[in-house]
Amino acid sequence: MTNIPTPEPQSPNNAGTRLVAWIDRRTGIHSLLHESLDEPIPGGARWAYVFGSGLLFLFMSQIITGVFLALYYVPAADHAHTVVSYIVKEVTSGSFIRSIHAYGSSGIIIVLVLHIGQTILYGSYKGRRELLWLSGCILLALMLGMAFTGYLLPWDEKAYFASAVGTNLIAEVPFIGPSLQRLVRGGNQMGTLTLSRFYVLHVFMLPAMLIAFIASHVFFFRKAGAAGPINENPVAPKLPAVSFYPRQVIMDAVFSVAIIGILAFIASKIPMDLGPAANPADTHFLPRPEWYYRPAFQGLKYLSGRASLLGIVLPAILAVIFAAVPFVDRGRERRPWRRPVVVGGFLLFLMAYTALGVASYRDDYSDPGMAAQMHKQDEDAQAFMKQPFIPESAAGSASAALASADPRILKGQALYQAGSCSSCHGDRGVGTAAAVALTGVGQKYSDAELSTLLHTPNAKMTNGGMTPVDMKDDDLAALTSYLRQLH
Ligand code: HEC
Repeated sequence: MTNIPTPEPQSPNNAGTRLVAWIDRRTGIHSLLHESLDEPIPGGARWAYVFGSGLLFLFMSQIITGVFLALYYVPAADHAHTVVSYIVKEVTSGSFIRSIHAYGSSGIIIVLVLHIGQTILYGSYKGRRELLWLSGCILLALMLGMAFTGYLLPWDEKAYFASAVGTNLIAEVPFIGPSLQRLVRGGNQMGTLTLSRFYVLHVFMLPAMLIAFIASHVFFFRKAGAAGPINENPVAPKLPAVSFYPRQVIMDAVFSVAIIGILAFIASKIPMDLGPAANPADTHFLPRPEWYYRPAFQGLKYLSGRASLLGIVLPAILAVIFAAVPFVDRGRERRPWRRPVVVGGFLLFLMAYTALGVASYRDDYSDPGMAAQMHKQDEDAQAFMKQPFIPESAAGSASAALASADPRILKGQALYQAGSCSSCHGDRGVGTAAAVALTGVGQKYSDAELSTLLHTPNAKMTNGGMTPVDMKDDDLAALTSYLRQLH
């Protein structure tokens, strides 16, 4: 049998089109793109439909900024605050990226409310869309979980105390409350174990679940199809369908660009603040959660005391009612004015939630003592933001142990003591009547300047009795690194 090679199918000359064809034969990317972009929308594109894509876009922005933050972050109670302040004060664009991430969580909550509001107003949960709705409910809960766990991570005063209140609430769960609280905190008190638990939830477990449920949400959406406008039959649409691409794609893209524009603008104008490190012994700090948890916080205040069990039961009842909506409201009627119970209930809830939030802020500022404390907390955070970054090795006696873990610094310390520097400059360079303190010389001089100064003391030093330091180069280097970290 003669072996005649089969000719390759006529391939176009252009390298780009050839590459695309090569990929398509192996992946079917054309039909995939076709499938995802040609989703028919009964009645055509509308601005009202942009929120779902907006949420997806915000979620991706959170992942990207979150990955950058995770490059530096250390989930331990004695380092978390230092690394976040390093991100804010030293890392290029660190404060900007952190602000986008922090404000992004608020953005997600706002767009979530718009997305849910649109779904409820349009009755687009109707017509075999129960699972679509339920996966959305789970996504909402997961997002609230992300907001809650992320808030603790900077480990500043407000993060610590707000999360202490939040985790205190867990103890109110009937029967298993106290054990559940210990599980979440990793003990009775908040500490490194709490932080690492929140970190693992925030960075691994919740995002993994989010991705899974986003996939199922999109799948259920595509399966049921877009519901279209309010007078459309949710199961068998009558209006002519228009493809998702290009008009809806453009609207979604414009909305996403607007979101990132607003976030970037706010992040650059008002960087997210970082307060002083959490001090669990501070008994004056008034804990306050993020704005979207404020109404719940205020509600708890009204329920304080024995009724605080209601603080668990009430949200649970609300959640069950919310999840049950498409199972209870089953008619084909979608016009909002014909569905007063669901639409009215939702609007009532929004109004009540807003009113509680307003009451919470009003309470804070109507009591002069409380207002003064809130003001002080703001000022402390602003003041901390203005301070230069202080590395841990220099941040105080607690971390002096850390500094001495560095053999070079340890050697420098020995030389400092042996060279009787301490007789004039005091223990750990705090200064004596005989000579100035050496704390902060690291900021004042470079390594080279410091070595030169030690080799050839200036007039002031010689007058004060300081003799030239004469030692081997690496000893001198050790001594200077010891001096540099004195604070
Ligand atoms: C006899 C006392 C004495 C001893 C011992 C001594 N110093 Fe000094 N040192 C001085 C005086 C005085 C000055 C000048 C202070 C001034 O600028 O007003 C000085 C200045 C310095 C400065 C410059 C500080 C600045 O802010 O400009 C450094 C650095 C320093 N000493 C390091 C050392 C080291 C390291 C040793 C040990 C090897 C040492 N000194 C031992 C008295 C002493």
